[in-house]
Order: sequence, then C-alpha cells, then structure tokens
Amino acid sequence: MSNEKYTAIILAAGKGRRMGTDVPKQYLELDGHPILFYAIEAFEKSPVQDIVLVTGDDEIDYCKEKIVKRYGFSKIRTIVTGGKERYHSVYEGLRACENTDYVLIHDGARPFVNAEMIQNAMQEVKKYDACVCAVPAKDTIKISDENNFTKETPDRKYMWIVQTPQTFSYTKIKTAYERMLESSDVSVTDDAMVMEQFGSQKVKLIMGDYNNIKITTPDDLIAGAAILKSRREMKGRFKMEREFWEQGFRNRDLETGI
Ligand code: CTP
Ligand code: MG
Repeated sequence: MSNEKYTAIILAAGKGRRMGTDVPKQYLELDGHPILFYAIEAFEKSPVQDIVLVTGDDEIDYCKEKIVKRYGFSKIRTIVTGGKERYHSVYEGLRACENTDYVLIHDGARPFVNAEMIQNAMQEVKKYDACVCAVPAKDTIKISDENNFTKETPDRKYMWIVQTPQTFSYTKIKTAYERMLESSDVSVTDDAMVMEQFGSQKVKLIMGDYNNIKITTPDDLIAGAAILKSRREMKGRFKMEREFWEQGFRNRDLETGI
C-alpha cells in the first residue's frame, strides 16, 4: 500500500453485561468460531502490519491458545490487559503500539468489518488524520428529556450511526487520549469523541456498512448468524458466477485456439 505503518488495536476487554452471559460476548461462538476470531481474521488478511489485542487480564492465555495458536494468526504483536472503561482499554492499546504512523481502533465485538472498509480507512486517514466508519441513519432520531418526552428531532440527513474501525494519526490520537486522561470529567463513548473534545483534528465520517453491527444483546446473535449465512451464500454465488465465466473463456479458447 505504501511505506506508512498501520496498527490495528482490537478491543476485547469488555465484560459484555448487556449480553447477560457468563462468558464475555466476544468469546461466544458464531458458526463454530469465537466472535473475536472474525474481526482478527479481517485485519490479519488486510494490509495492516501489526495487530495489538486488548483483553481481560485472565483472558490472555485463552486468547493465545484458542485464538492466536488455533488460527495461526501472525500479525498479533502483543496481547495487553485492558481497563475498566473502553477508553482505558484503548489507551492501553495505544501504549502498546510500536513505531506506528496510523492506528485503526476496532471493537472486537464487530465481527463483520470487511476488507473494503479497512482499505478505505487506510486510504482516507492519510488525507484526514482522523476518520471513522459510519452509516447514514435510516430511522428518525429523537432527543428526549429525562422523562422520555421528545425534545428535539434533528434533521435526519445529518444523523449517522457510528461504527469502528475509527482510524487516526497515531500521535494525534495518543495526545488527545493523554489530555483526556489528565482531565477530571471524562464521559466518552467512542474515539472520535476523544478527538473532538481533546484533540487537534476534525473527524471525517467515511462509509461503513450496515452489516458491520456490534454484537451487544442476544438478538444481535440472531442477526449475526443471518449475516454470516448471507455472506456464505454470496460467496457461493460469486464462486458459481466466476466458474461460469471461466468455463466460458476456456470454451472460447478451445474454439478460437487463442
Ligand atoms: N471494551 C474493552 N474494554 C472495556 C469495555 C469495552 O475493550 N473496558 C471493548 C469490548 O470488548 C467491545 C468494545 O469495547 O469489543 C465495545 O464495547 P461494548 O459493546 O460496550 O462491550 P462491553 O463493554 O463488553 O459490553 P457491555 O457494555 O454490555 O458490558
Ligand atoms: Mg460497554
């Protein structure tokens, strides 16, 4: 791609409280593989050079054995322990990066990130230094008061559902995180917010994918299984189409002798 170095930070240190299972949701199986496997696989196959995996303290051995070794991943440079909140985990991931120009911060609970999204983020971050994947909101979004009465209806054309990867210049996001951690009042839910509030860079929204869902509650497992199934069928269909065309070319070669 270029000489720049890219590192993916994959977050898997959450407890998955909204899922309500004993095992944190990123280790639940979807189609025979832990949910976390899918995101790692996408980055492993992408042009990023390094992956930093952030997990719970007592999950490091599990990840080494049941994920890195089992699937033969070769880009995971290190596995570090996360923190109490997502932003603590991100900061631990940032601290563990080695000489990188850009970081792609990704939720391990988003298994359906794909090659196009990763490549697009890698391109766009060179232009903007801060870009996050998002999709236009399809529904009308309401802002309510504390009693759930509607207060405001922002114009839908400016509403986006934000996803990961969120991709940044390494020095700019690390500086923003350090400033945030020095402040007393922290309430951020994604990395873009850290840049907006404590950083120097405007954040560009780039196209994500409606299938790039975060597995959060049990119904997301059903949606996830459906997405995987449709992916498999698509693959099957593309394979059939490719075989059809290749066969056509072979026949033509035989006919024309070219
Ligand atoms: N995450 C993390 N460290 C934390 C909290 C979250 O690494 N302290 C990770 C999760 O593992 C997940 C991603 O950040 O991949 C997005 O977080 P979320 O969906 O909120 O996951 P959980 O915090 O695990 O779930 P819940 O909020 O329901 O407890
Ligand atoms: Mg959470």
